[in-house]
Amino acid sequence: MEDWNPRSWQTRPARQQPVYDDPAYLENVVQQLSALPPLVTSWEIERLKTQLAEAALGQRFLLQGGACAESFDHCDAIVITNKLKILLQMSLILTYGLKRRIIRVGRFAGQYAKPRSSNDETRDGVTLPSFRGDLINRQPFTPEDRRPNPDLLLRGYEHAALTLNFIRALVDGGFADLHHPEYWDLDFVKHSPKASEYQKMVQSISDSLRFMETLAGIEPAQVNRVDFFTSHEGLHLHYEQAQTRRVPRRVGWYNLGTHYPWIGMRTAELDGAHVHFFRGIQNPIAIKIGPGMTREWLRELLDVLLSNNEPGRLTFIHRFGHEKVATCLPPLIDEVRAAGKTVLWCCDPMHGNTEKTPSGLKTRKFDNILSELEQSFDIHSSCGSFLGGVHFELSGDNVTECIGGARGLSEIDLTRAYESQVDPRLNYEQALEMALLIGRKMESMNRLQA
Ligand code: PEP
Ligand code: CO
Repeated sequence: MEDWNPRSWQTRPARQQPVYDDPAYLENVVQQLSALPPLVTSWEIERLKTQLAEAALGQRFLLQGGACAESFDHCDAIVITNKLKILLQMSLILTYGLKRRIIRVGRFAGQYAKPRSSNDETRDGVTLPSFRGDLINRQPFTPEDRRPNPDLLLRGYEHAALTLNFIRALVDGGFADLHHPEYWDLDFVKHSPKASEYQKMVQSISDSLRFMETLAGIEPAQVNRVDFFTSHEGLHLHYEQAQTRRVPRRVGWYNLGTHYPWIGMRTAELDGAHVHFFRGIQNPIAIKIGPGMTREWLRELLDVLLSNNEPGRLTFIHRFGHEKVATCLPPLIDEVRAAGKTVLWCCDPMHGNTEKTPSGLKTRKFDNILSELEQSFDIHSSCGSFLGGVHFELSGDNVTECIGGARGLSEIDLTRAYESQVDPRLNYEQALEMALLIGRKMESMNRLQA
């Protein structure tokens, strides 16, 4: 790719980038970041790509989830372990219901930059830059906090490294061992209305494992091993550029700051800087697509980002909302088929279903989230494609941000533990229940096909 290098995006229009008041200092920080060790390796990236290629064919299933935005203040042991626990529990439930291996991808270790609808925010006649995430500026409404500060790029890299280091140590140390699902129980699993259903599944999986080991003599190292991969929105291009490197014995450039970056639709214009940057990296990548996506735009994205139809390379994460998915999705599935390309289809049932309560809180209804998911499974099945993954905003904690679920959280409950500074997340119980219902949906689809 002759016209590409990690910084060539700078010649294209880049949306959603902060304006720094000292470009020379920014450049200095980018140089420092470029010299630091990578967070992930090309081996891991290639392994994930292979697994995503299998998911695109219906042989595996992608579970991607985490907070809308990570914050430096929440980079602590409890928040990180709880996030792993909920992803592990959901993946266990999905394995059971879907009879497929699950690929676990966190929205973590780098999800620090957010797209904003406006560059500025005005309060009481004072206008300051909008808060764009901890990688860029800070939330308090003061000129100093809101000033985009290049040093935060280094703090972001460090927090991502700390997060990833802890996750790797937990996983390697046996935390995610399938023989010990009790390690990942969260305290309130015992009180959940869905607890007994979950415990039964865990028991059955433990029994199967033991069966394989004792009767079949299978060395379960492969079964035991649970991987986590990282992902974040590849929004801040100086940060992404700084971590994009060549590696020995492989062709091309790898973004070694995360395994699996995605582009939001706000930054997915064809001739924009983000599509240009993503074109040149070897990582598997995803693009969020919403109701504004046209067949022509999708086709051009396929031409640019999946020119050689490499398996596992491209995921479309669709997020239309429960009211629009039935009309928006089928033409796009058709377009991919017409282009002769294979992508992984993943449903984000969160971002098209955001609403505001009369009191002004952002929320999402459990039933609408579920409805978009169930419709998506059906639409793919009737269009002859597969829904190969799901993408959630969730928390391993007992927050009250989304309405509904088995415990019937209502609007009044929302104020009790509403912690998100950005989008509302499913709490632990709601996420677990969602996994149970997806499993059930797949079981009934499989029965119908049998
Ligand atoms: C997000 O994933 O947090 C997000 C901003 O989503 P979208 O770009 O799909 O609205
Ligand atoms: Co969000």
